[in-house]
Amino acid sequence: MPSDLSPHLLGQGPVWPIEIVRGRNDRVWDREGRVFYDFYGGHAVALTGHAHTRIRRAINREMRKLIFYSTSTRLNVRERAAATLAAHLPDRLSRMFFCNSGAEANENALKIALRLTGRERLIAFRGSFHGRTALTLAVTDDPRLNGPFARYAPRVDWLPFAEPATWEGVDFHKAAAVILEPIQSMGGVRVAPDAWLGELIARAHAAGCLVIFDEIQTGLGRTGTWFCASRPGLEPDMVTLAKGLASGIPVAATIVTADIASALEPHDLGSTFGGGPVAMAALLATFEVLEREDCLHSVREISQKMMTAINPLPGCAVLGRGFLLGIKGPRTGRWLCDELFSRGFLAGPSRDPLVTRLLPPLTLRPRSADRFLDALSEILGEAG
Ligand SMILES: Cc1ncc(COP(=O)(O)O)c(C=O)c1O
Repeated sequence: MPSDLSPHLLGQGPVWPIEIVRGRNDRVWDREGRVFYDFYGGHAVALTGHAHTRIRRAINREMRKLIFYSTSTRLNVRERAAATLAAHLPDRLSRMFFCNSGAEANENALKIALRLTGRERLIAFRGSFHGRTALTLAVTDDPRLNGPFARYAPRVDWLPFAEPATWEGVDFHKAAAVILEPIQSMGGVRVAPDAWLGELIARAHAAGCLVIFDEIQTGLGRTGTWFCASRPGLEPDMVTLAKGLASGIPVAATIVTADIASALEPHDLGSTFGGGPVAMAALLATFEVLEREDCLHSVREISQKMMTAINPLPGCAVLGRGFLLGIKGPRTGRWLCDELFSRGFLAGPSRDPLVTRLLPPLTLRPRSADRFLDALSEILGEAG
């Protein structure tokens, strides 16, 4: 690994000691020519796999016409992208603002809630991750990240995630918004049951508190339905998306109801790069791939097969839904990730030391899943 070639880079270094040079669907190759099955997807971004022909063609076609123009003019491709995304969302979530990262999408949602309600508090959950901007850090449950900035943060009421009666004693009347991931990914792949989510939403709404679903990981079919907000009885006021929305070209979206949209002023939201033509073309192509290849159906099928195979393995339990899966194993997630890596599979750890996360492309081939299952049972068999 040529780490000495990058002394200028700040931030978290590589997780794996390899240099990836190319990718194709659910596999990537490193500089030495080794192949890895990608069950991590570059932080859950490779929704349509790597270098999908339709995505590459759409980007190239758009680049030949116009690489960029901002929201200062109409763009047909932007309007088509918004209409396509709206067509896949529940009817009530029909207005959207395009930006560039998950943190920005959440920051916008939180700002909207604080501004429209005039309230000063927020409600968030233990185990959450919502981003690294000022407001999103304030609602991220990680003192390493938000500790140094605590004095700039609004007051946040922290609740245990997905636990019965977690709301006892919480005054939703004081909060502008409650923000949550319907399935906490980094927090250890913890699923909030629909009944619990429904009750949370009802309590918040009864007190005029807005509900934000951070679907940056759960959205776009990863859990086998388009969005958690599409599930019956779940009616958040805002949904945020990012990650694989444009198959790796940075795009994020803050999506709101028509009522919220009508209360906003045009200057409330803005972004130089948000909704640029190349990104919008990649977003359109992403939906085309997911639909043409019937990815949601195969996510459900392959996921079911993987869950059935993993659960009986010694000391194992599977968490999650669709292709947002966690393996709670007999040893640490770090250990399992390393073992998988040495056999040619990329998977990610989580903040739960025992949980390994699988976030493969929605285009994962059944035979890649089979190979993963074989490797996993070999690893766990050897660990005895
Ligand atoms: C659930 C969730 N929300 C927000 C974010 C922040 O997104 P970004 O890194 O694009 O700012 C992430 C990133 O991992 C995430 O997983």
